[in-house]
Amino acid sequence: MDTKQKTIGVLTSGGDAPGMNAAVRAVVRSAVKKGMRVIGIQRGYNGLIHGEMIEMNMRSVSDIIHRGGTVLYTARCVEFKEWEGVLRAKKTCDEVGVDGIVVVGGDGSFRGAADLSKAGVPCVGIPGTIDNDIACTDYTIGYDTAMNTAMEMVDKIRDTAQSHDRCSVVEVMGRRAGYIALNTGIACGATCILVPELEVKMDEVISKIKAAQKLGKQNFIVLVAEGIGGSAEIAKQIEAATGIETRATVLGHVQRGGNPTVRDRVAASRLGYYAVELLEKGIGNRVVGMQNGDIVDFDIQEALHMKKEFPLDLYKIANEISF
Ligand code: ADP
Ligand code: F6P
Repeated sequence: MDTKQKTIGVLTSGGDAPGMNAAVRAVVRSAVKKGMRVIGIQRGYNGLIHGEMIEMNMRSVSDIIHRGGTVLYTARCVEFKEWEGVLRAKKTCDEVGVDGIVVVGGDGSFRGAADLSKAGVPCVGIPGTIDNDIACTDYTIGYDTAMNTAMEMVDKIRDTAQSHDRCSVVEVMGRRAGYIALNTGIACGATCILVPELEVKMDEVISKIKAAQKLGKQNFIVLVAEGIGGSAEIAKQIEAATGIETRATVLGHVQRGGNPTVRDRVAASRLGYYAVELLEKGIGNRVVGMQNGDIVDFDIQEALHMKKEFPLDLYKIANEISF
């Protein structure tokens, strides 16, 4: 019987997302509860290459469930994209005696986790990104908080747009995905929502604003996803074509910060717990996720090849009720 105490590592990688701390907490607590030793690896894969690690215990994750950002810090580590970097990380794992790692991050981070699993260190990925752009899961940690923050910001912008009879073009994050834009747009009653998944026709945007204006609408929100970009230029075109005074706001990193919502904290806790169960069984090269409320897991390569459908039905609803 193998009586050696199992040691697992946990790291956060790529853009930080609210709820990452709740995931780290769940990983540490459930692993310690199972009798494992836990190492916190700092600044993503950089920490593995350069040996930035801390011993974690029940108390080292106290008072973090409610905090945005990541107490383990994060990074986009270029060295780890090369096989040489992966081998250096493997060497660190051998020296420290790490038997497996939980990686909280986006798809780039999962590519790294697949490489490290191939090198002999079983890794389990947990989707943590505000963009919700991971195909194998309905939900990524941080998405809900980011949308709620964006919604609050747009609500504030709306107060001033209403007071001045203006149009406000608001650009939200999401990288190449339009999920934050679509849902925030619906929640804020945006007249138009521009997402990279669908072709943008400026003449249609302008006709829609004019049609709503004819129906008595006096102020307008146009939600633009980062993947479309150019919100200042879009604002200029709207003003020129409609005569409505128009302003553009890029929300930026405010969307990445703040206390995680209930949904993010609970999802992070469940995913973190499940990831440790896999490593306990010696299962690596997996990504955990959520489908229809259930926790699921996939082979990393399989997960990376999946395609996520854009919810056209939701987009249709948004379009039809926004006059
Ligand atoms: P974000 O979308 O915020 O950049 P990702 O999870 O996609 O978040 O993080 C990308 C990071 O993942 C990279 O900067 C790098 O540190 C790490 N990574 C490790 N291996 C790879 C790889 N093979 N391809 C891409 N990214 C990798
Ligand atoms: O992936 C999260 C995200 O915030 C994207 O929405 C955005 O495109 C990007 O990261 C911004 O990254 P940076 O941290 O480099 O500003």
